[in-house]
This record gives sequence, structure tokens and C-alpha cells, in this order.
Amino acid sequence: MNDPRKVDIYSAEHKRDPFQFYAFLRSEAPVFEVGVPVLKRAWLITRYDDVVLCLQDSDRFVKNASNAGLRSPKSMPWWTPASLRTLSENMLDLDDPAHRRLRALINKAFSRARIEQLRNRAEVLAEGLVDRMRAKSKPDVIEDFALPLPLTVISELLGLPEEARPRFRKWTNVFLGARSEIRMALSLPSIFALMRYLRRLVATRRRTPRDDLISALIAVEEGGDRLSENELIAMLVLLIIAGHETTVNLIGSGMLVLMENPREKERLIGDFSLLGSAVEELLRFTAPVEIATERYAAQDIDLRDTTIRRGDVIFPVIASANRDAQKFAEPDRLDVARRPNPHLAFGDGVHFCVGSHLAKMEAEIAFGCLLRRLPKLSLACPAHELQWRAAPVVRGLKSLPVIT
Ligand code: HEM
Repeated sequence: MNDPRKVDIYSAEHKRDPFQFYAFLRSEAPVFEVGVPVLKRAWLITRYDDVVLCLQDSDRFVKNASNAGLRSPKSMPWWTPASLRTLSENMLDLDDPAHRRLRALINKAFSRARIEQLRNRAEVLAEGLVDRMRAKSKPDVIEDFALPLPLTVISELLGLPEEARPRFRKWTNVFLGARSEIRMALSLPSIFALMRYLRRLVATRRRTPRDDLISALIAVEEGGDRLSENELIAMLVLLIIAGHETTVNLIGSGMLVLMENPREKERLIGDFSLLGSAVEELLRFTAPVEIATERYAAQDIDLRDTTIRRGDVIFPVIASANRDAQKFAEPDRLDVARRPNPHLAFGDGVHFCVGSHLAKMEAEIAFGCLLRRLPKLSLACPAHELQWRAAPVVRGLKSLPVIT
């Protein structure tokens, strides 16, 4: 094991296999401080019980930096323009009661019924994408399937016009790739372009509402309360980014580990009633969100012989909690029938993922369709040549070339 203080947790090299590093930390240094770009320093919390504590105890582990005595979020450099700071009015960056208020409004607009309406559409899309993959000489699971499926679903759900979708992908990439101050500065024009676009779209929907989530969010009302214009834009940016990137990672990394574990793959092909538990296991095993978004210590906190100071940044490491042998038998073994499976892939506590039902529905359709139609799918290059994306928080492949 290299010096753990020198590991760059945002690098592509780390993303390839972060699990050994976290196994070392769980056993030797379960509360461990590392240097990271922009935020400067962060405590990695790696044991299951401790990650649950961080995510559930939202009084001591807060999202809004001002509740930890800081003047501005460390995740935004001091030079961030004021208009961009409105993006931190998204619910994932707020604590209760501000968070609870936004969450109640989105829960009303983002109903289960609205998601279920999308099931047939997602199935048709998945079948069409597989048809196209089969016709290609060099198919790629990410480019040809894992990316277009969730991107189209979230775009149709929200009501984003088709011609704008490639740009949404580019904007999301820029946003998630902003892992240093320089990259953040370079990403500003794209983020402004995204916000400008959304403001125009919201204005259009205000004039002529449609049966889509943007119109529902404009109209949603709870006890006389509504979303302000800034809150609406921040919510849309959050939904666009959280709503597809993570699912792309799950489908891509999930197909990779199934190809690497042929017995589990065959087991699933032999019994598709295992799809539900297989999706839960792939969520646990592949860590599409490697680290929950940062928390700040609202007070000094003693955790495992370490004192975290008020205002310090904390990273609850989901990828590590989900491989903790104190919680999961044989955690490094893929078991598509694992039950129970209390993984933390969607987080825990008040910020538990809003889109978990949608993500699971899409993933079941995706894995079901790929395995049924392309049961002999195999890698077109050795696994060690695959490229992972350098990024904070999320973990996913850049591309996944295959032979159908
Ligand atoms: C929150 C994971 C798909 C929308 C979260 C969190 C995690 C997560 C870990 C909590 C982050 C934290 O506490 O810091 C995932 C994974 C997905 C997925 C692994 C797919 C495999 C989706 C989809 C949507 C979505 C499809 C929307 C359509 C959100 C939102 C939040 C959130 C809005 C913030 C909730 C809040 O602050 O109350 N997600 N997500 N996610 N997710 Fe997801």
C-alpha cells in the first residue's frame, strides 16, 4: 500500500480500484484526513456504522457551511460569481428546515405515478438502443446504451427539448469534472450557458405549461408555498446532473462486473426473477456514488479516537461502507441474490436519494434487456486498459468497448 496520505482520491487511477485503499483505512485509520483540491482537507469516514452516523445525524454533520460557522461553502472558491452561488440553494446543499421545505415540494411533483408512467417508454428505448448496438462494428456500452438511456429518460421526464440534450451532457461533464480551482474557473461559461438556457425554458413553460416535471415544479404548491425562480433553476440543475450521471455509472460498471463474474452473470440469465436483488447488489458493489457529498462539522466531534473540529470537511465514503465485513458477509464477493442488502448506495437520512425508484427501474430494464438480447457480451479489450473518469464523488467508466 502506497502512503495513504498521497493517494489522489479524485484520480482515474484511484477510481479503477478504490476498494483496497478503503479496506486498509477501515482497518488502520477509519477516520483519516486527506488533502483534496478546492476543499483543501477532508476527513474520510470509512466504516459502515460511522458513515450511517454522518448521514443520519444531520444536526452535527451539516450540509450548509454557515451552520458550521463558515462564511461560505468551501466547495465554491471565493471568486465564484454571486449569480452562480444561487446554485447552492439546491436541496442537497441545505439543512432542515430549508431542505425539508424543498423536499416536500419535489416529492409532490416527482410522484411514483409519474415515474411508473415512464416504464414502458424506458423499455422501448432500451430495446432500440440494443438494436443499434448490434448493428455497430465497435459497440460501446457507455456511449451506445448506458448514457443515452438515462439521459433520454430524465430529459423526457423533465421536458427538456431533444435538440438540447447533447449540450446537457457536455454541461454535466464540465460540472462534475470541476475538481480543481482552475477547472472550476474554466467551467464557468458552460454553467452560465446551462442556467441561461434553463431560465428561458422555465419562462416558456410558465406561459404554456405541458405535462412534464418542469411545469409540475413551476405549479407545485404546498401549504401556500412555492419554489422561487432561483430555487427552481437550482433544483433543475441538481435533477439533470444527479438524474443521469449516477445511473450511467451503475449500468456501465454493473455490466463490467457481470462480465468479470461470468458465474453470477449466468445465474442471472438463468433466473431473471433475481433482477431486483442483482440491481441492489450492483449498486453495493460498484459504488456509482463513491463518496456522499461533503458534510461540515457543526461542532467538535469525537469519532474513533479522533477529534474532528468545528468547520472541518467530512467525506462519508459510501464505497467503503458497502464493503465493510462488519455489515456484509464476504463483502468483496458479487452475489446477485444477496439478501438482506442494506447498502448505502443511495445515501441515508434526510438527503436519501429522491430518484432511487427511477434509478432502480431504469437499471432493471437496462440489465434485463442487455443480458436477454446480448447474453454473450464480452470485453473488447483487457480490463486493465479500460479508462475511468477522474472526478470527485462519483465513480464511472469513460467507455466500455464490447463484442456482442
Ligand atoms: C441524493 C445516489 C439516481 C436525484 C443522492 C444521494 C446519493 C444518491 C448517495 C445522497 C447524497 C448525499 O447525502 O450527499 C444515487 C445513485 C443513483 C441516483 C447511486 C443511480 C444509480 C438519481 C436519479 C435522480 C436523483 C435518477 C433524479 C431523477 C437525487 C437528488 C438528491 C439525491 C435530487 C438530493 C436529495 C436531498 O438532498 O434530499 N443520490 N442517485 N438521483 N439524488 Fe440520487
